[in-house]
Amino acid sequence: MLIRDYQQNELIKLNRFIQSIDEYRMKYHLRHIKLTRDYALLINRRLGNPVSSKKLSYAALAHDVLKEKTFDPTSPDREYDGHIIPSDIIKYVRSNLDTLEIYGMDEYFNSDVNWHPLAGGIFLHKELGVDDPEIIYPVIFHSCPIMAVYETLSYNIRTMVDIIMLADKLSSNYIRINYRESNVAVDLDAVVFGTNGKQFQYDIGLLVARLINENKIEGDQVKITNDHYLNRVLENNPWIKIGKIGGNKKWPKRKSLAFLT
Ligand SMILES: [Fe+2]
Repeated sequence: MLIRDYQQNELIKLNRFIQSIDEYRMKYHLRHIKLTRDYALLINRRLGNPVSSKKLSYAALAHDVLKEKTFDPTSPDREYDGHIIPSDIIKYVRSNLDTLEIYGMDEYFNSDVNWHPLAGGIFLHKELGVDDPEIIYPVIFHSCPIMAVYETLSYNIRTMVDIIMLADKLSSNYIRINYRESNVAVDLDAVVFGTNGKQFQYDIGLLVARLINENKIEGDQVKITNDHYLNRVLENNPWIKIGKIGGNKKWPKRKSLAFLT
């Protein structure tokens, strides 16, 4: 799928319309989705641009398109530019399981994934004609990737899911600290980029983003997902795994990236 710049502008306009019920929340929402996009692009750059920055931008601007906080489920559906904007998000997900089935998600509609990410994915597919899994999965999984499905996805899609999940948490955490002055568990920006902005702790950042989320939603899937990100930290960093230096042993031989430079 080709993503053009004007589509991003259209997406911002659509978000503005959907959130127009509440001026205060709309301001927060627009700041949040734009900052999510900027963080996603920054992470992609630090990773060496493994995935499409245009698709990441699109997924970031779309990820909360049907965020239910603003919605009164009893009010009638709205229309914008020929698109139906549902008011009852839960009903919308339940009545579109056939769309979720395309992405292998129909069994998980009632799980820890949350309603608004699923509703967002359905909306993109049905109303905006987006059928690119590199955009749909990052939206559907931005709150909690379901590991049984995530592990079947390509490396590219999994990377995009990870980037959007981390960028989303970085954005809301940054806004809480710097604009709302509210209490948060940790400064996630400092965890990922260091207080000097020169570090890049990707896997640890993903794990901490998961743990911050844990306070909000609990369930079996959340535990499986968090274990996945904890294992990644342990597998990717033998120092963290052993926790101390002392006692020599034989390590398995590996090819170093240095040979590729
Ligand atoms: Fe978000």
